[in-house]
Amino acid sequence: MSLPALDVHLTTADADAALRDDARRGLTASPKVLSPQWLYDARGSELFEQITALPEYYPFAAEREALAEHADAIARAAAADTLVELGSGSSSKTPVLLDALDRAGTLRRYVPVDVSPSALEEAVPGLVEAYPGLDVHGVVADFTRDLRSIPHDGRRLVALLGGTLGNFEPGDRQAFLAALADELDPGEAFLVGTDLVKDEATLVAAYDDAQGVTAAFDLNTLSVLNRVLGADFDRSGFDHLAVWVPQSSRIEMRLRARRPMRVRVPELDLEVDFAEGEEMRTEISTKFTRERVRDELAAAGFSHDGWFTDPQDRFALSLAVRR
Ligand code: SAH
Ligand code: AVI
Repeated sequence: MSLPALDVHLTTADADAALRDDARRGLTASPKVLSPQWLYDARGSELFEQITALPEYYPFAAEREALAEHADAIARAAAADTLVELGSGSSSKTPVLLDALDRAGTLRRYVPVDVSPSALEEAVPGLVEAYPGLDVHGVVADFTRDLRSIPHDGRRLVALLGGTLGNFEPGDRQAFLAALADELDPGEAFLVGTDLVKDEATLVAAYDDAQGVTAAFDLNTLSVLNRVLGADFDRSGFDHLAVWVPQSSRIEMRLRARRPMRVRVPELDLEVDFAEGEEMRTEISTKFTRERVRDELAAAGFSHDGWFTDPQDRFALSLAVRR
């Protein structure tokens, strides 16, 4: 079987340069903050896969249930020949959507887009084998920067699954939605998965599981900084926290320093001090209501044409159409 080459819009050098910029800004900010994009090196992508199988991490199973129940309705409404999936990771839920588009008789091409080359290298061969007639065109790109690199021809359905929209800061989220609307032609569709507001205990457990897999995922960011920037973070000096912040309707993952530490970051020519108990934010995961999703999509130029949830109303898929 010959595999299609990945289309690379984000080289390792580009990604490392972006990490340097983000780390310089974030490690000198108060409070300290890092972009969640750096969670997904090869090890981080592997740990995310393990998270999706945890009993506490309901978003994965809930979105899969919603997809299984509503994929045919979504596929009929989108009538797309090209499925573009942003932040596709292992593409493990995608077959549900591909099969539905196939049943609708429109499917021709699948374009998984991810910052993680290792995730695409693992996912693409299985999809090529499972869907012999399908044109699988993997793209290594940063969807906050490279939306113009996705194919323009055909009728597209762009999917952003998993709740990844919730990982954007509010201003960046609006900018991303507006850029996506700009990229799409009127009538083209956007399918977006959003986790929904629920009780605090369920939310916190989903981001701080008993086996410590999410803690390892969070701490892996420090290993990325050590490897790429030559930093000397001591992972054992930090605890993982998952905090529900009701005012901003989001879970925040944070790393809290157990003791005072001075960390050297030679690539940035920087020394960073942590006080005992100081917290650095590594990810936000926003939880939505139907009204909020509708309003944010409308502000970006989409109409909210479908709202599909799992049977327990934990997670929603929204089908939006570019006006
Ligand atoms: N969609 C999958 C995976 C979600 S994990 C699911 O629902 O299970 C989030 C994925 O988004 C990871 O694979 C990560 O590498 C990717 N990602 C994060 N930030 C990104 C960015 N700026 N551009 C492209 N991909 C990104
Ligand atoms: C990818 N993203 C939607 C996940 C989330 O739930 O926000 C990432 C994650 N972080 C911790 N666990 C999973």
